Amino acid sequence: MDDILVEWDDKYAVGIDLIDTQHRHLIDMTNTLYKGCLTGEEAARSYFMETIQATVDYVKYHFSAEEKLMEHFKYPDIVNHKNQHASFVMKILEDVNSFQTGKKFVPNAFVRYLKDWILSHIAVMDKNYAEYILNQHKGKKI
Ligand SMILES: [Fe+2]
Repeated sequence: MDDILVEWDDKYAVGIDLIDTQHRHLIDMTNTLYKGCLTGEEAARSYFMETIQATVDYVKYHFSAEEKLMEHFKYPDIVNHKNQHASFVMKILEDVNSFQTGKKFVPNAFVRYLKDWILSHIAVMDKNYAEYILNQHKGKKI
């Protein structure tokens, strides 16, 4: 469908229900922002004004859920993982700030960056920690 940027696919699943549910929600939010991009420049601006903060808040909430899980299971690569989260948050906060203060901001590029980052982060970094945790916890529900 043309008005959807990315569709959830089971290949994105990391195998931990809580995290997969949150990742689905992130993808939904990315699609919601993308829809706003299809409405023309003026409408896209007011749409972003209303929805972008909720997306940033959810990203932060999700990262802290992941980090708590990694801490709990003493994941060895946690520092590296946290750094990736932190630099992503910094980058999107800069973009959002540019947008909110009327500086140069391209909604479509922002949404595509969001999508690409999230999917590539899930594919490597998140799958790595999930595999570690699932191995530690063989057979038990997390
Ligand atoms: Fe992550």
